[in-house]
Amino acid sequence: MRTLRFHQTGSALDVLHLEEAEIPVPGPGQIRVAVQSCGLNPADWALCNGLFAGDLPRGIGLEVSGTVDAVGAEVTGVAVGDAVFGPAPFTGPTAGASDYALLDVFFPRPAGLEPDAAAALPMAVETAHRGLHGLGVRRDAAHGLTVLVHGAGGTVGYAAVQIALRYGAQVIATAGRTYADALRAMGAQVTSYGDGMAERVRELAGGPVDLALDAAPISNSLPEVVRTVRTPEDALTLSDFAAAQELGVRFQFGEEGNEYHNDVLPEYAQLAADGTFTVPVARTFPLEDWRAATELSLSGKAGGKLILHIG
Ligand SMILES: NC(=O)c1ccc[n+]([C@@H]2O[C@H](COP(=O)([O-])OP(=O)(O)OC[C@H]3O[C@@H](n4cnc5c(N)ncnc54)[C@H](OP(=O)(O)O)[C@@H]3O)[C@@H](O)[C@H]2O)c1
Repeated sequence: MRTLRFHQTGSALDVLHLEEAEIPVPGPGQIRVAVQSCGLNPADWALCNGLFAGDLPRGIGLEVSGTVDAVGAEVTGVAVGDAVFGPAPFTGPTAGASDYALLDVFFPRPAGLEPDAAAALPMAVETAHRGLHGLGVRRDAAHGLTVLVHGAGGTVGYAAVQIALRYGAQVIATAGRTYADALRAMGAQVTSYGDGMAERVRELAGGPVDLALDAAPISNSLPEVVRTVRTPEDALTLSDFAAAQELGVRFQFGEEGNEYHNDVLPEYAQLAADGTFTVPVARTFPLEDWRAATELSLSGKAGGKLILHIG
């Protein structure tokens, strides 16, 4: 089968190759999926750079939709031919950007949810939900909170705005032009990122916000985020962990007790199928054009989810 993977760590554009590999065999608890769509994420390029170093070669492509092609031992409730989506494990010699992928965590793709839209959900929704939860923006416990989502033009931030609004928070979002109007239409107050961001946010909030989620790509903006809250501990970053440690900001990535929130994916998939939630797809690429997709993602200006079409 075709797979996109790396044999040595380094810059994604230098180390990734589209090559032939053995079709993987599902172990106990796993299914194998014939991949239709695979979402690309900044995490893919971090893996290439040595994040979670382990045996090589390693595959990339951490979220997929497709149809079940084989079912491992101890798997129940799913059959060959079912339409599914889910996060793809990042430790194997091949991952989601492949003709076939093994999944340990998977959910039915609801009727009405297209394969691209389903493949766009896992990383953004799981990360946004986990980040908001760590921050204190939780189901039935967010009413009355004013929450900043910095980087709401990114897929994680865009999902976080929708989840925080759904949980009853008042949301202020920073975003560029691509999604500013869409974010306003959802009910968020929106301002631009960059110089003066903290002042603009405080003006909109009438003072400091209660909590701030930094979902922006690393951009030296965490000090500015800190100026929007009362104390650095009222902010949590999903990206700039080095700055977080210097500033006393919370961060979320492999912290103790930091369990993945994949269990919310079916709920958000149904909302997406119903048209009341979305992780917008910016562009799709055939697998062979992975290099153009990678370049666009690495530019930090993806403008939504980038999807590889595989099957
Ligand atoms: N901790 C975790 O577990 C975890 C998991 C997943 C992702 N992450 C991290 O979360 C961050 C966001 O991921 P993502 O997938 O949402 O990224 P993404 O979709 O690739 O974000 C790109 C978008 O961010 C916006 N942006 C660019 N520069 C910005 C800046 N200086 N300030 C604010 N927004 C800016 C741009 O939109 P506009 O200009 O149109 O607004 C751009 O289209 C990444 O750093 C990623 O590594 C962490």
